[in-house]
Amino acid sequence: MNIIPYGKQTIDDDDISAVTEVLKSDFLTTGPKIKEFEEKIAQYCNSKYCVSVSNGTAALHLASLVLLKEGDKVLTTPNSFLATSNSILYVNAKPIFVDICEDGNIDLDLCEEELKKDSEIKALYVVHFSGNPINQKKLRYLKDTYNVKILEDCAHSIGASIEGIKAGSCKNSSMSILSFHPVKNLTTGEGGAITTNCIRHYKKLIQLRNHGMNANPDVAPWHYDMNELGFNYRLTDISCALGLSQLKKLDVFIEKRKNLAKKYDKLFKDIEGIYPLYKYTNNSAYHLYIVKIDFDLFNCNKKELFLKLREKKIFLQYHYIPINKQPYYKNLAYGNENTPMMDNYYKKAISLPLFPKLSYEEQDYVIKSILEVLND
Ligand SMILES: Cc1ncc(COP(=O)(O)O)c(C=O)c1O
Repeated sequence: MNIIPYGKQTIDDDDISAVTEVLKSDFLTTGPKIKEFEEKIAQYCNSKYCVSVSNGTAALHLASLVLLKEGDKVLTTPNSFLATSNSILYVNAKPIFVDICEDGNIDLDLCEEELKKDSEIKALYVVHFSGNPINQKKLRYLKDTYNVKILEDCAHSIGASIEGIKAGSCKNSSMSILSFHPVKNLTTGEGGAITTNCIRHYKKLIQLRNHGMNANPDVAPWHYDMNELGFNYRLTDISCALGLSQLKKLDVFIEKRKNLAKKYDKLFKDIEGIYPLYKYTNNSAYHLYIVKIDFDLFNCNKKELFLKLREKKIFLQYHYIPINKQPYYKNLAYGNENTPMMDNYYKKAISLPLFPKLSYEEQDYVIKSILEVLND
């Protein structure tokens, strides 16, 4: 039996041909595949614009440079990958961590309490955690009532939608970011993107992605002006070709993820002490399948479960260590926030294998092995 990881890319011959074609072409970077990929992503997400970048972290960095000013307070979740709140620190703004709900998403009611208390809060960074979209009506209400800028971290959620609103459409936000890391729903190797409906944001992001410079052929054919301090956060044509090929299959990938999630739900239904993070919802893009385990009911703890399953070639994962409890954040005086839901989640949650090429037989083996280890 091969190793069963928690997540993995799905690469087929058509992906390899798409990449090979670019390798044989004139442009490995700054070529035609970039725009083509961006247009297709914008179309898929229902946004006006898309800017591709070298990874999701770069997308967050550029989005934060455009949305935030030094000293701005920003509400965000402790239950995300480090990059979400790190991007707030990159621009010398101040993350404020808000507790999560049962489903692992940021608690928007608690966000509202914070907004009522503090008029210096300028933005809200949400993550559609595990692919499960947060309540868009509430997001719109917070945006309109408290005049906060909203960024949606859609690293997990391309392909998700709620009430007809697609992840990345920026219907109720200034910008969304995507990640195309291999474990994500669609991959370009490393890669990311920002979507927006605002032409001003779009132009600024394009400039920042490329050293803050603009070609100026009116002056001379070779001339460019650097107008601000930017970066090289460009994505290559090689990556975009892979992304374009993957995008054609994204809905099929998500369908398989949903079927696997449904089956996990069914298999766990009658087992006391193991609970899916949320009941099956067609809204979720199921980047992750998470269960909460009442370890008190079993003969093994979370660490033992991880290690014993590795012996059976199953590599579980956990998402996420609360960001505010990281040593770097503790040095900045974070870590003592009142987050009982997050603390409880941390004790119980694990991410099970979920990726399009996971076979139903492998899934059966995963469940059987978990039950064996827990009841051993
Ligand atoms: C929620 C979330 N945001 C941002 C990122 C950063 O994306 P990348 O790894 O492409 O830099 C990730 C990646 O793991 C993520 O899961």
